[in-house]
Amino acid sequence: MIDEIRDRVDIVRVIGEAIPLKKAGRNFVGLCPFHGEKTPSFSVSQQKQLYYCFGCGEGGTVFTFLMKYHRYSFPEVLERLAQMAGIDLTPYQGNQEDISKRKEERNRLEALMAYTRDAYHKALIHSKVGEHAREYVKARGISWETAQRLKLGFAPDRWSTLTQALLRDGKSLEDAERLGLVVQKKGRNGHFDQFRNRLLFPIEDPHGKVVGFGGRVLGDDEPKYLNSPQSLLFDKSKLLYGLDRVTAHAREEKSLFVVEGYMDQVVLGESGIHNVVATLGTALTDQHARLLKRYAENVVIVFDGDSAGLRASRRSMKPLLAHGVAAKVMLLPEGEDPDSFVRKVGREKFLSQAEEALPMLEFFLDRFYKEERNLGEKAEAIEELVDVIRSSETLFLKEALVEEASRIAGLDKAVLRGEQKLPLKRPASLAPKPAFRASNATRRSREEWATILRLAARVEEARRRLDVDPVFDWFPDEKLADFAKNWLDQIQGLSDTDQSISGLVDAWGDENTRQLLAGAFFHEGEDSFEEDHWEKVWKDCVKKLLNRKISYLSKVATEADRNGHVEKAEELSQEVFELKKIAQHYEKGWDVGMDKGRLG
Ligand code: UTP
Ligand code: MN
Repeated sequence: MIDEIRDRVDIVRVIGEAIPLKKAGRNFVGLCPFHGEKTPSFSVSQQKQLYYCFGCGEGGTVFTFLMKYHRYSFPEVLERLAQMAGIDLTPYQGNQEDISKRKEERNRLEALMAYTRDAYHKALIHSKVGEHAREYVKARGISWETAQRLKLGFAPDRWSTLTQALLRDGKSLEDAERLGLVVQKKGRNGHFDQFRNRLLFPIEDPHGKVVGFGGRVLGDDEPKYLNSPQSLLFDKSKLLYGLDRVTAHAREEKSLFVVEGYMDQVVLGESGIHNVVATLGTALTDQHARLLKRYAENVVIVFDGDSAGLRASRRSMKPLLAHGVAAKVMLLPEGEDPDSFVRKVGREKFLSQAEEALPMLEFFLDRFYKEERNLGEKAEAIEELVDVIRSSETLFLKEALVEEASRIAGLDKAVLRGEQKLPLKRPASLAPKPAFRASNATRRSREEWATILRLAARVEEARRRLDVDPVFDWFPDEKLADFAKNWLDQIQGLSDTDQSISGLVDAWGDENTRQLLAGAFFHEGEDSFEEDHWEKVWKDCVKKLLNRKISYLSKVATEADRNGHVEKAEELSQEVFELKKIAQHYEKGWDVGMDKGRLG
């Protein structure tokens, strides 16, 4: 559930609700709510889903922000974010009474959606002002029967057609607002319609219940398509347009096409290709993959013949392969989408072209690996593939992918399996573990230890260095070292969605140091760890950690000596001596190794 929330909410939106944020370069900035300031030094990174204040050092993820800002408890944060993201928490909580209340609520909202669909449909069929919409439907090659069967709708170019109807029929405007059908006026009473001057495609869930709309503008306003927002009913990461109506066709044809647009889905239907569903303006998700597997033996993903289509195909690869969906990729000629293409060439040609679609893995390896000449890109393709293999559903599927990938592209099986991590362990919870106060030494050396940790998290080789160099012994604080070890264990076992930067930060058990870590990740450059560069960074950090430790221990030793604790002083001096030796070795070369025998 935490993963799901992280996936769905956007830190910029959440923080933006609390304090005004402005876009500044890559990040968003605002006045820090945690200390008084006149010029903004509080930054939020959308890409990393982290916040950090350059003024006071406060930082963290969307979870920590809400806990600190609103003083919510962790469960309260979850509840709030889940609500925002339209995630149903009932499976995780609640008693019988709650459940039946929610059910009742759902029924009520579903009825309101159906009411709205019917009202808009009537407007398309009968209304005077709907003439241009009817023209548009015809011009796009949609027959009248189809428009009626799909209950397409028309939202007139007015502010309160639906609002008035809802008022008249005694419907709840509050509910309508929650479904994104109407919008509350700013600073005033009253609502206005969300959809205006648009042709509406009602979107149904797999049971045929209407849960939202996709609205195409009539004319060329922006945005071209307006979709229902996330709500209790509507979740585009698990909906596929048309699914409820085409399951019989999919079974019959033993295959299902997946296209990117509502219009494409409808027009393919008009040309006699009925086994088609459309995504709702997002890349395919894990949930889509599971759905598709359930409904069709073979899946053909159809992508527009442009670079955006190619990118989309790449993004959709992971969930499909990882869930073992038998998917092929059909890439349309440049400049075509399924709608334009089928209208140009007709059903037969479209289907025969589909016959030639390559299996997804082959398509991916051909395009992004074999034909790729840029070494960095090539490496990235392998990395992505290894990532897919790692996250694939079953051991057998893993093996199948390894086998196939090595057959198609001659890739080394050990490499393909190589990145396999230790047995999966999930973080017990994000709730704070026993905290310790970050000491001054911890703060002062944050740059070093946090960098070491970032490297260990990102670079496999760096992680392996930790077996050779007892770097944790040189951390400024034993407790911190314990947390660090624990953290590395935790993140080895994180699922891939959690390998996001904010996921890594959240896995750190202690709140007080978590913000130091967040700060470190916030500063991380996009590609600072590429290739061999990490070694230099690593060495520099280790040297600094050692030197800090050495000077600290020397000071304590002198102190002890002065106070007459001779034995203690002796012991510390010995330790300093050894550390200095290690530092020298480190200075000389990389692999002198921290071989105790040789150093002793
Ligand atoms: P396209 O931009 O490819 O449009 O969007 P299209 O399907 O070819 O539509 P026509 O032919 O111009 O009418 C494909 C899908 O991407 C989402 C919608 O789900 C759309 O069906 N989309 C597109 C949006 O959500 N918002 C937009 O502004 C544009
Ligand atoms: Mn189109």
